Amino acid sequence: MHIGPVDLGEKPLLLAPMEDVTDPSFRYMCKKFGADMVCTEFISSDGLIRDAAGSLAKLRIDEQERPVAIQLYGHLIEPMVEAAIMAERARPDVIDINFGCPMKKIAARGAGSGMMRDVPLMVEMTRRIVDAVRLPVTVKTRLGWDEESKNIVQIAERLQDAGISALTIHGRTRAQMYRGAADWTLIGEVKNNPRIRIPIIGNGDVSSPQAAAEAFDRWGVDGVMIGRATYGRPWIFGEVRHFLDTGEFLPQPTVARRVAIAREHLLKSVEVKGPVVGILEMRRHMSNYFKGLPDFRATRLQLVTLTEVDRLLETLGTIEERWGDFDMSRAVPTPLGGGKI
Ligand SMILES: Cc1cc2nc3c(=O)[nH]c(=O)nc-3n(C[C@H](O)[C@H](O)[C@H](O)COP(=O)(O)O)c2cc1C
Repeated sequence: MHIGPVDLGEKPLLLAPMEDVTDPSFRYMCKKFGADMVCTEFISSDGLIRDAAGSLAKLRIDEQERPVAIQLYGHLIEPMVEAAIMAERARPDVIDINFGCPMKKIAARGAGSGMMRDVPLMVEMTRRIVDAVRLPVTVKTRLGWDEESKNIVQIAERLQDAGISALTIHGRTRAQMYRGAADWTLIGEVKNNPRIRIPIIGNGDVSSPQAAAEAFDRWGVDGVMIGRATYGRPWIFGEVRHFLDTGEFLPQPTVARRVAIAREHLLKSVEVKGPVVGILEMRRHMSNYFKGLPDFRATRLQLVTLTEVDRLLETLGTIEERWGDFDMSRAVPTPLGGGKI
């Protein structure tokens, strides 16, 4: 699959953009385990052009994470075009437009999934951004605003005509937020529309190698994007790839391996954001690596309260000592939730 000149290989697996999750350190981990493409957290176009520090910081990308997309959202054309030009200067491989975010404060203002209620504006904004930058432009969106207005088939054609290089579809409506099961039938319909020539990337509830295989084989998508299932499991990309290649399952990483992975992630987070913010932001990831360990409460508390790298590394060491023999295949995976991790 190609996005413009960017070659992602056969059946690529993409890391979904997730606010407060897919920062450079987590992208680094996912990339390491085989994500074929990663994306920044969404970035406010207004924040970017106001020079807001938080938005500018999110533009940071590293060479080793390529190919990488920078994702933008906003409800007005001019600021979005300006932000796209700014984002292009950060030298990503792709500019992605968010037309899918369901959060009230964003959608109610007409940005994110709110744009699905004004298709002419959505198309015009997309066309203007495509014209303003040299990089390929992609869009990530949902099936429609609600059950009565699932207009993704029509939207896909119009966005393609506006010049986008690929389309990611999350198989829910805005009204569903993250509830119910993702519906892949409409994603399949878009993919099988003979008018559609751009790659279609399917997204929603892929949390196992079999689900990813089904997305490719049954629904025919060109790429699969994985979001929540990566929490505490960045190796899922490797698991899926192995299954697609061989039909076999890789064993879940041992406790010792998880300790090594959590350590690397922590050190990367500190390298990127400094010890204070790096540790703080790592808290949402840390204990996820050890979900399912019995009698883990007190240790979990340490992982989310300690403020020094050395103490955290010590605690990770104790996890290996105490639970090193635990068989992680006995750890029951938790269902995908909607909220923040
Ligand atoms: C905590 C969280 C943050 C998210 N932030 C973004 C975002 O910044 N941009 C975006 O396009 N989608 C965002 N999403 C949606 C995901 O990219 C993805 O479409 C959704 O989680 C469904 O995929 P999944 O079932 O594999 O998780 C977010 C989802 C979650 C749970």
